[in-house]
Amino acid sequence: MEGRRVLVLGATGLLGPYLVAEARARGALVDGVGRRSGAVRHDLTASSDAMARLNLASYDVVVNAVALTDVDACEREPERARAVNAGVVAELVGGLARATHLVHVSTDQVYPDAPGPHREGVTGPVNAYGRSKLGGEIEACRHPRTTVVRTNFFGPSRTSGRASLSDWALGALARREPIDGFAGSWFSPLRLDTVARWCFDAVAAGATGTFNLGSRDGMSKYEFILALARAHRLDGSLVRAVEGGSRRGRARRAPDLRLDVGAIEARLEGQLPTLAEEVAR
Ligand SMILES: NC(=O)c1ccc[n+]([C@@H]2O[C@H](COP(=O)([O-])OP(=O)(O)OC[C@H]3O[C@@H](n4cnc5c(N)ncnc54)[C@H](OP(=O)(O)O)[C@@H]3O)[C@@H](O)[C@H]2O)c1
Repeated sequence: MEGRRVLVLGATGLLGPYLVAEARARGALVDGVGRRSGAVRHDLTASSDAMARLNLASYDVVVNAVALTDVDACEREPERARAVNAGVVAELVGGLARATHLVHVSTDQVYPDAPGPHREGVTGPVNAYGRSKLGGEIEACRHPRTTVVRTNFFGPSRTSGRASLSDWALGALARREPIDGFAGSWFSPLRLDTVARWCFDAVAAGATGTFNLGSRDGMSKYEFILALARAHRLDGSLVRAVEGGSRRGRARRAPDLRLDVGAIEARLEGQLPTLAEEVAR
């Protein structure tokens, strides 16, 4: 990556700062774009020339972490979800040079309400967020050199006002507030820095295609929060096991979103950590 020009879209979210840091650590020349803050600010849905002003063709690698990630807001406003999660990607692809490597960050929520771990072949999102993200993947794959990573993540946010699941849980437990952990909701997230590292490993290896990027196994969200509590020596008895997925006013979530990560491990000839290893780290 030494000396290569990298653009990170969505640099002011949870994952974006980790992507910027990882690319810089590899010697790349990195620009980051956010909407409300950051060195370069653009609302990419505001006008048809918003993307043109980014001079996309000058970059060797573009990583797209722009999204409307509030799953319940996406359900209430599916048009807005489509505009950000798929429309922006279509505009982006239209401005890239053919040789540019596009890394498009997607989600485990493209998978159906079926037992995991899910392999890449069968999708079937159960909510508007997942449908809009799947639409974004389709747009991203129109570019000839694209890596789509379907992921989920946790870890300390580097962005004020934007907390991760682990930030939220650890903050509440440190204040000794009881919290709910969904016992029937399974996932396989990675730490934010691990996701960033594997994204650029995929670029370095020239690995194009669609890959799951998660921990090797997974846990229920209840088990995950308990494991976090233990790792931070906080009181796990404050975590209540509740059933997830069907609360009033919440978009539907598929209960088992664990990812089969065999394809990316084989392509990059590496081994992803287990979720327990990630929590311990
Ligand atoms: N968060 C999760 O748990 C999770 C799980 C699985 C997958 N993912 C995926 O991972 C990627 C990154 O997620 P994240 O949690 O880091 O997202 P996030 O914290 O919600 O940040 C989203 C980023 O997109 C930018 N953005 C949103 N709308 C924009 C617009 N109209 N124009 C320009 N920029 C806009 C935001 O800018 P401002 O903040 O400056 O407005 C921010 O930089 C997304 O593709 C998401 O679908 C996230």
